[in-house]
Amino acid sequence: MTIRSSMWATVAVLLVVALVPMLAMAADEDPLQDVCVRDTAAALTINGFACKPFAKVSVDDFKFVGLKNPGDTNNANKANVTAASVIQFPGLNTLGISAVRIDFAKGGINPPHTHPRATELLILLKGELYVGFVSSNGAVNTLFATTIYPGEAFVFPRGLVHFQLNVGKAPALAFAGLSSQNPGVQQVAPALFMPDIKDEVLEKGFRIDTKTVDMIQKQFRM
Ligand SMILES: *[C@@H]1O[C@H](CO)[C@@H](O)[C@H](O)[C@H]1NC(C)=O
Repeated sequence: MTIRSSMWATVAVLLVVALVPMLAMAADEDPLQDVCVRDTAAALTINGFACKPFAKVSVDDFKFVGLKNPGDTNNANKANVTAASVIQFPGLNTLGISAVRIDFAKGGINPPHTHPRATELLILLKGELYVGFVSSNGAVNTLFATTIYPGEAFVFPRGLVHFQLNVGKAPALAFAGLSSQNPGVQQVAPALFMPDIKDEVLEKGFRIDTKTVDMIQKQFRM
């Protein structure tokens, strides 16, 4: 090995070593104190939220009652996701966790979407759900889908496109935990067909014609 090529090999190794911790930090950071209840009045903008003074923290900051009531399923999806993330539940700040309640009317769907920052562990309480996600492993799309029943759980790995469809004869109810205080959600169809993306991008991206693009766009116009 020449001096030059061994120098480049060293640089490459150093780059890999430097990048590994960055990849490992793609999830929420670990907390640096026991509690950091979101100070909803703080004007400060940081990656996460400022903590309210510990002296003002009370047990109520760690309790959330917003998952008790069913969401209204009288909408196009016949389903409703009620979130308990750091926005609704300030006590979750820095804890790397959140939850949702999902109500489904008969035939209701939680359409294909992703959570950029969270793995989701869903537990079905009532009904029958056809659930699944698409893996991108090896750049080949692989579907993992099945039907689950009350008491059964299903996990949707972080960032992957996933869905739930009520295939039972009655309403369904599920709760899920998510591995981020702020999982984020991106609905696949509205994300692509609502904004002013040039038609040509969608025509070529989906291999469809202008009419079909317009027809789908119309479904997601408010
Ligand atoms: C979900 O349910 C809540 C509570 O009933 C309601 O305010 C909200 O508009 C519903 N969302 C949709 C998309 O129907």
